[in-house]
Amino acid sequence: MFDANAAYKAWLERAYDATAASRDDSRWRNVSAEHDALERHILNAGRPSIGDRVLELGCGTGTLTRKLAHAVGARGRVEAIDLSTEMLREAMTHFMHPAIEFRKADFDSIDLDASSFDSIYSKWAVELSSDVRALLRKMVCGLTATGRLVVLTVGDPACSTVSRAARFIRHGFFAPADESHGTPSAFALASEARLVETAHWAGLGNAAATSYVSRIAFSSLAELVEWLCETQGPIKGLLRRLPVERRVEAKAALSEFLSAGPESEAVASQQSILLAGSLR
Ligand SMILES: C[S@@+](CC[C@H](N)C(=O)[O-])C[C@H]1O[C@@H](n2cnc3c(N)ncnc32)[C@H](O)[C@@H]1O
Repeated sequence: MFDANAAYKAWLERAYDATAASRDDSRWRNVSAEHDALERHILNAGRPSIGDRVLELGCGTGTLTRKLAHAVGARGRVEAIDLSTEMLREAMTHFMHPAIEFRKADFDSIDLDASSFDSIYSKWAVELSSDVRALLRKMVCGLTATGRLVVLTVGDPACSTVSRAARFIRHGFFAPADESHGTPSAFALASEARLVETAHWAGLGNAAATSYVSRIAFSSLAELVEWLCETQGPIKGLLRRLPVERRVEAKAALSEFLSAGPESEAVASQQSILLAGSLR
């Protein structure tokens, strides 16, 4: 029988494997000040300190993992989990630290020991969960009594160039029923109020959320379209499923679609929401 969850996980793994090598591309480095600022907000909210035991879910190429390792030092421990072999390979190629243990696993199906982490982090990953409520509850259970949970997730898809572009290609070039990458979690979390409500439900009584908007400037709309199609997992994954001539058509249609929207000025934007809280 068709297992939709297994198919979704296989799709995710392929999509992120395919984009791992270009994830920290020059475009990201160009905006690294903004990206660093977001990661600093995460660290300020989680307050990792020397000797702490911390967990990161969906670590990707490990940009946050490195900062966590510096914060906890060689006597601390950072468990960094990701589903994508290639993301983990990138992470391990660029940075190793005695505190870090990278591990390939599906965060939706791992067991976490109760009360075992001083802080738990996830950046731009929980929205990909197949059951985000269960995931948040598991993360909360994994915290020590004074532990802190910090989650950065994507905000309103309407404010995200990547989400708008992926949606445009999915609706224009795939059958209506083909929503293989749509994740209900993304929509369940995409406002501060809904995120906080989910965190309260999961047991994080004092959770609070703050929104940030990141912008990436390109030299032309064509360069923005190329970046979306070549480096952004959801879009690259969709395009790879089309025959070559349909891919060319999809790129041209996407360019026209974006030229009529806020991206006409060759700027990509994304809203992120930071959720932070502790048990007490
Ligand atoms: C958008 S990327 C973010 C990566 C990294 N946190 C960052 O900020 O650059 C999402 C990451 O979550 C990982 N991921 C998605 N679903 C996962 C799951 N169920 N278990 C573990 N990792 C997962 C993907 O492989 C990918 O590396």
